[in-house]
Amino acid sequence: MVVLAASICTKGGKAVISRQFRDMTRTRIESLLASFPKLIPTNTQHTSVETAEVRYVYQPLEDLYILLITNKASNILQDIETIHLFARIVSDMCRSADEREILRNAFELLGAFDEIVSMGYREQVNLMQVKSVLEMESHEEKIQEIIARNKEAEAKEELKRRAKQLEMQRREQQRRTGGGGGGIGSSYLGGGLSGYSSVPRYDTSDTPSVSRITTSSPAPSTTRSPAFKGSGMKLGSKKTKQAELLDALGGDVLASGAVELSTPSTPVITASEPIAARSSGRGSLPEVDPEAVHIVIKETLSLSLLRDGGVQSMELKGDMNLNISDPAFAHLRIALSSSSTDFGNSLQFKHHPNVGKFAPGQPRIVALKDSSRPFPLNQSIGVLKWRYAGTDESNVPLSLNCWPSPSNDGTCEVSIEYELENENVTLYDLVISIPLPAGSYPTVSSHTGEWSLNPSSHSLAWSIPSVSAADDSTRSGSIIFNVGGDDAAAFFPVEVTFVSEGSLAGVGVDKVTKVDGSEITTFSVDAVATTDGYLVV
Ligand SMILES: *[C@@H]1O[C@H](CO)[C@@H](O)[C@H](O)[C@H]1NC(C)=O
Ligand SMILES: *[C@@H]1O[C@H](CO)[C@@H](O)[C@H](O)[C@H]1NC(C)=O
Ligand SMILES: *[C@@H]1O[C@H](CO)[C@@H](O)[C@H](O)[C@H]1NC(C)=O
Repeated sequence: MVVLAASICTKGGKAVISRQFRDMTRTRIESLLASFPKLIPTNTQHTSVETAEVRYVYQPLEDLYILLITNKASNILQDIETIHLFARIVSDMCRSADEREILRNAFELLGAFDEIVSMGYREQVNLMQVKSVLEMESHEEKIQEIIARNKEAEAKEELKRRAKQLEMQRREQQRRTGGGGGGIGSSYLGGGLSGYSSVPRYDTSDTPSVSRITTSSPAPSTTRSPAFKGSGMKLGSKKTKQAELLDALGGDVLASGAVELSTPSTPVITASEPIAARSSGRGSLPEVDPEAVHIVIKETLSLSLLRDGGVQSMELKGDMNLNISDPAFAHLRIALSSSSTDFGNSLQFKHHPNVGKFAPGQPRIVALKDSSRPFPLNQSIGVLKWRYAGTDESNVPLSLNCWPSPSNDGTCEVSIEYELENENVTLYDLVISIPLPAGSYPTVSSHTGEWSLNPSSHSLAWSIPSVSAADDSTRSGSIIFNVGGDDAAAFFPVEVTFVSEGSLAGVGVDKVTKVDGSEITTFSVDAVATTDGYLVV
């Protein structure tokens, strides 16, 4: 299976360009090409002809031929496929298949030929891959541009923030000096004046600095990627192609670009698989050291929120497992915390057949029906299961507000906020994934947490390492970005993943006692909830 040469020649057999993959003299190839047109039978649909020494596999290209010269042991079916790929490369790179145009693009064409055949053997590449290798240079430019654009947007936000801060400080100072001056009148006047002057001041501090930044950002290159000049938001069809390429093979490159955009110290998630799915399903949730009585609570939550508000469907399933390793505690009772929430009261519980049912109106106790019997030791025993299915919005642990606003220039400003509604849990590895319109890349103007692009799903992954009601800086968060495309529906479904420390349904352990009533303090509870399809649709 050896391709000796790939050539483009005129109908008369004059070489336009030719790439030899095996040692061949120039005169040899020229004479092979010169004799080729005479071999072609008239009026046939064949795409190959043979001589005693070589086989020609060919395809007409307007007034030219593109052909492979192979040895006769070569696999003809594969060669036909290869010649089709060559022809597609040519029609992709050249506006027309005439001699001048071919010569003009000779360098790129020969480069592409070398990507397809190496040492006479076919490489396993497709059109997309060949093109992307050749366009690598412009990819890099494109990525640099995305990075620069995002840095610019962030710098702009930072300037706005600072301007606001300065303005507030100034007002504060004026208020104080005004107040020190005494009369209500002067204070009022002071406030009024600064309030008035703040508007133009804010603007002037904003506008010129931005334009300064714009000009100091790396100048877009003019040679290879004119497609990326200009506004850079809405990508046209050509850009879309390149963006697809970027997705197809620039994953790593893009991801490293994204790393640069976020705080360097924190890892950026680029894998398509959420962190929670790795390492035993608990993500970064801290391990719990098991005590003599170890209780494991596991929950999974499936939830579909409607983008305009409300719950489409919600299902939570949970179970409790008990592992006692000290025989002294084999006779025990577990009192669950009395959950006053609606969620708690709407759970359906199922007990292990040997475990007694909850008495209505009484504290919930998990204990063996026959209190004289011990729990088995050193085994994980499933004692209790629960399930909730419903649409009560007050049970939603994390609310989301996804707000794409199409503007009339073909771009969309997307604003997304989350808020932790369930105060009794800490969420780890929260990732909110927002699909992006094909071929468009976001310009993030403000964000809490970290963000990165996920090339495999072409989505923006916004991640917050931990979310807790006790921490105002993570309890709620937001991200705002601009992106080409004006179809608000393109940003759904938004998918949320996290690992929760603590039961979402509020099932917890209040107290563990021996059957005789004495309290057991050496118990541990590991309560973990994970998501299984948490979507905004
Ligand atoms: C249960 O496991 C603990 C710790 O591994 C061990 O010390 C104990 O002897 C085991 N008890 C039984 C009954 O297997
Ligand atoms: C139960 O706990 C003991 C002691 O911590 C541990 O050695 C054992 O592996 C646990 N068994 C199960 C099934 O988790
Ligand atoms: C959180 O826990 C407290 C105390 O156990 C309880 O009163 C409250 O209802 C819980 N809140 C939620 C949202 O489960």
